[in-house]
Amino acid sequence: MNRHIKDSLDRPLRDLRISVIDRCNFRCQYCMPAEIFDEDFQFLPKSELLSYEEIVRLSKIFADLGVKKLRLTGGEPLLRKNLTTLIAELVKIEGIEDLGLTTNGVYLKKHANNLKAAGLQRVNISLDSLDDNLFKQMNGRDIGIKPVIAGITAAKDAGLGVKVNMVVKKGTNEAQILPMAHFCKETDISLRFIEFMDVGHTNGWQLKNVMTKKELHALLRTEFDLEPVAEDYYGEVAKRYRYKGTMTEVGFITSVSESFCSSCTRARLSANGSLYTCLFNGKGHDLKSMLRSDMSDGELTNFIISLWNNRDDRYSDERAAGTVKGQEKIEMSFIGG
Ligand code: GTP
Ligand code: 5AD
Ligand code: SF4
Ligand code: SF4
Repeated sequence: MNRHIKDSLDRPLRDLRISVIDRCNFRCQYCMPAEIFDEDFQFLPKSELLSYEEIVRLSKIFADLGVKKLRLTGGEPLLRKNLTTLIAELVKIEGIEDLGLTTNGVYLKKHANNLKAAGLQRVNISLDSLDDNLFKQMNGRDIGIKPVIAGITAAKDAGLGVKVNMVVKKGTNEAQILPMAHFCKETDISLRFIEFMDVGHTNGWQLKNVMTKKELHALLRTEFDLEPVAEDYYGEVAKRYRYKGTMTEVGFITSVSESFCSSCTRARLSANGSLYTCLFNGKGHDLKSMLRSDMSDGELTNFIISLWNNRDDRYSDERAAGTVKGQEKIEMSFIGG
């Protein structure tokens, strides 16, 4: 039975973003600053991570409630062992039409073929600079762009859909915007510029560091002719354009300057099995304890229905309206963006 449920603002539940691990091989300043996520930082022990069986059980319940899109995130999801085992189970779930993975790409060269063979459809790869030194500085780990480019190439060669995500931070990498646009246009890769967001409490976010879609678009227009592309589906995150005369797309993720909460259909599952109804909501709902109790699927389903029915999150809208109260927020690396 497929029950389609709506939240208190009439938004359906369509996507589930699943964080499979809270660790990462990078220390991007805007996500996991090295000063905080240092050698003493307590990451989750293995016993606290949802098992693949638990993730599959929950995904089936979510699919039954109308979820069509699943996205695996981290931290860095490719650090979790045997991820292909999970992927092969998730693609079999009735109702799931789209399965993607968000990664920094470093381990993609090794895994791309196996991920595709297991049934993964798409990868979104983060790359904030083509300049090696700047990239090393931004990822905090002295890793240059070479393995990421190799990962992008391997993913394309394997037949996976590929998008590149570039978080733009004013004062850090805006000189990389045009080089990234040229590189992605020439290699026919869909690039999305992401406005730097105030996720969590540790990334030193300031409005003055946000490069808005308007500013990005104006800069791109100095070298490219862009035409808008119609929305692919209700609630799409990126505003998409095409380089005129090509099929290559470039998009903008405008959480700060043009919030998109009114059509937000996304739920998020943290690596330790808590469910978050907004990227900026600090309060998760502990599904892991329920999974590990004697609760039935029906009882879990009812719990999720009532949670979604009561959902009223619209953080980015509230930020734009200046009505955010100093609420507790979850860290990006814990919830996978
Ligand atoms: P596609 O299905 O390919 O469109 O993926 P996606 O853009 O939804 O996922 P991805 O993991 O590539 O995320 C790109 C950026 O969008 C990241 O910075 C995410 O944090 C951000 N993002 C995704 N969903 C939301 C959302 O619901 N709210 C906000 N504020 N940002 C989001
Ligand atoms: N603001 C915007 N995007 C971010 N990401 C990580 N932290 C932030 C932030 N503070 C991006 C990553 C990745 C995606 C999951 O989220 O670069 O592409
Ligand atoms: Fe790791 Fe991605 Fe966060 Fe960078 S943005 S630290 S690659 S999870
Ligand atoms: Fe959805 Fe929250 Fe992002 Fe708004 S801020 S789009 S409600 S996740």
